[in-house]
Amino acid sequence: MMRIISLCFFVLAAALTLSVQAAQVRSISERVYSAGQATRGQELYKAQCTECHGNAMEGVSGPPLVGEDFLANWSARPLTNLVDKIQKTMPFTSPGSLSRTQSIDLVAYILQTGKFPAGPTELSEGSLAQVTFPTAARTTATPALTSTGTSLPSPEGNLAELMRAIAFPNANIIFNTQLKDPGAQAKKELAKAPFDYVEWGATVYPGWLAIDQAAVALAESAPLLLTPGRKCQNGRPVPVDRADWKQYVAALVDVGKLAHQLSQKRDYDAFLEISEKLNDACANCHKVYRDKGGAEGSGATRCQ
Ligand code: HEC
Ligand code: HEC
Repeated sequence: MMRIISLCFFVLAAALTLSVQAAQVRSISERVYSAGQATRGQELYKAQCTECHGNAMEGVSGPPLVGEDFLANWSARPLTNLVDKIQKTMPFTSPGSLSRTQSIDLVAYILQTGKFPAGPTELSEGSLAQVTFPTAARTTATPALTSTGTSLPSPEGNLAELMRAIAFPNANIIFNTQLKDPGAQAKKELAKAPFDYVEWGATVYPGWLAIDQAAVALAESAPLLLTPGRKCQNGRPVPVDRADWKQYVAALVDVGKLAHQLSQKRDYDAFLEISEKLNDACANCHKVYRDKGGAEGSGATRCQ
């Protein structure tokens, strides 16, 4: 009889502590995961993440998952965000393949590797939102100043994202001129259904207008490769202060401007040299800063 009563009391007390805890915001340093859980995460990590993030999470082609920069990225954010990031976008090449529980276990292992202590209880879905990273000051990104002294916003994307967003699609529009004379292009007919904004948009400024725009985009966006505080995908800072880096950027600006001039002339024969010049401007920088040591994907040596 006595045992049953004390057991009930214990359960009640535990329930009370739980409900109090649920409302409290805790820090990741307050023993929020268990060692056994981190071990499960470690197995997953070894099998699926080491290749890109490194044995000690020091970063290879992917960014580091420990240390100052990592903590600054997640400053003051709840663990829910990190679990979401992993579950929805990792592993980079097969996102969506991890279960919620696996993603939480991986976060436990990330915390353990970052030297945050383990505790008696597993990290669970219910507590993720209440556990936050400590607030960290960013040490690297100093906002850029314009000539009038207004500060520019800090970069939003890493270098690879910026390349895919601007350089890649606009260079492709220009490379297409090798295959098709923009002046001779018949007006594109829109597929009847379903409506597609991207397809429709490509018909609004057809032919040479599209070439003008791509040239302007390349020339005007090249200086974004010099924005201070931007990181490469592997977590290294973009080498914006190197003399050769600045030259490669300047070369891209020059090709963009020349492309704009020639495009304005609507002279297909004169424009044909642009593709090769543009290809060189991209490739010269990639040879040194992107593709060193092998294929395009050899991410660890990028931006060195
Ligand atoms: C093929 C390479 C690759 C693999 C494998 C991979 N990642 Fe990544 N990971 C990246 C790249 C590249 C980024 C940076 C781009 C991004 O944030 O989406 C990244 C970003 C991250 C981030 C965000 C880091 C930050 O500070 O914002 C986390 C967390 C992460 N990965 C966890 C994992 C985990 C856990 C696994 C294993 C399940 C994994 N990754 C597997 C390449 C990879
Ligand atoms: C000043 C140097 C420089 C110039 C000029 C440059 N790039 Fe890049 N590019 C890089 C670096 C460095 C990376 C790797 C970025 C990273 O890993 O975060 C990269 C990455 C890329 C990627 C992403 C590859 C991936 O990982 O998915 C594409 C696409 C790309 N560049 C296209 C272009 C095109 C097209 C041009 C020319 C119009 C160009 N780049 C000009 C330095 C440059």
